[in-house]
Amino acid sequence: MLIFIDILNLRKYVPAMDDYIQIKHSQIDFYHKTQLFYKTEDSEFHLYKKEGEPIAESRVETHKHPPLFILKKDKRAAAKELQAALNIDLAREIASKGVKTVKTVVGRIVQEALEDPCQETLDALPETIEIFFKGYAKDSELLKAMTMVASGSSLIVDHTVNVLAIAMRFCFCEQLSEAASKKIGLAALLHDIGTSAISQKILEADRKLTDAEFDAYKSHPLKGYDIITRWGTFDPMVAEVALEHHERIDGSGYPMSATNISFESQLIGLIDSYEPLTYRDKSFRKAKSPFDTLQLIKQEVLEGRFDKKIFGNLCSCMTS
Ligand SMILES: [Fe+2]
Ligand SMILES: [Fe+2]
Repeated sequence: MLIFIDILNLRKYVPAMDDYIQIKHSQIDFYHKTQLFYKTEDSEFHLYKKEGEPIAESRVETHKHPPLFILKKDKRAAAKELQAALNIDLAREIASKGVKTVKTVVGRIVQEALEDPCQETLDALPETIEIFFKGYAKDSELLKAMTMVASGSSLIVDHTVNVLAIAMRFCFCEQLSEAASKKIGLAALLHDIGTSAISQKILEADRKLTDAEFDAYKSHPLKGYDIITRWGTFDPMVAEVALEHHERIDGSGYPMSATNISFESQLIGLIDSYEPLTYRDKSFRKAKSPFDTLQLIKQEVLEGRFDKKIFGNLCSCMTS
């Protein structure tokens, strides 16, 4: 809502309370172009930092910012600025070879995309993959270490970053082309974007889901496909993987019980099954070793749910 005031025939607007959105404290230093506001005791919003200026150095040093806000109308531009700044951070962290900090930054990029899947947040992701690919093409062993460290992110974010790291490890190990690898990387990063429309209660449940909850969860491939085709300007394969990563070649998967599934969807589907079993304890089961997990998935391969060749190649890469 905008409140218009008319003084001496000069029309200008004063933003109302609901025209502001509070930003996360961890995001503050990333905003240069975006104007920031603080709230007074009288609940008025005053300018904290002008558009196009960094926050004053003295404030950065003390890190004692009050709760800060952006204008709702700046939301999209702010999201774009934030994702671009996170990509710069990512390149810096990869250069310093700290896998935990890289995982944290990629996690923040994924988190932003999940919180507000829009063109601006999705547009930055090919650059994220470009940086990631270049950073690890010659040092893919670090990707293994990355999956082992905890990032402190939410379950779905941590899972997504692990799936990305394993998928890229597979691409390097199989010596896939740069273009194919980057597309797979992007597909890995976005495969669960549809969970942005699923309740946190379901996503974070440390127990077996009820039938109703599982039905709701099973809608995420279609929701992900819709988000990517609506906002993304990517290769169609990326949306296809979001749609198909829970399908199985014997038709036992969801949402369509499809049997004709692309290589990329099968690969991400395999990694998607492998990741939570290996890297996560749940109260109702313990995390398994990579070997034990692969044995478990092998059973599914033998029952005809996954392609034997893709599984064999994945095993070679995960155990090399
Ligand atoms: Fe999924
Ligand atoms: Fe997943």
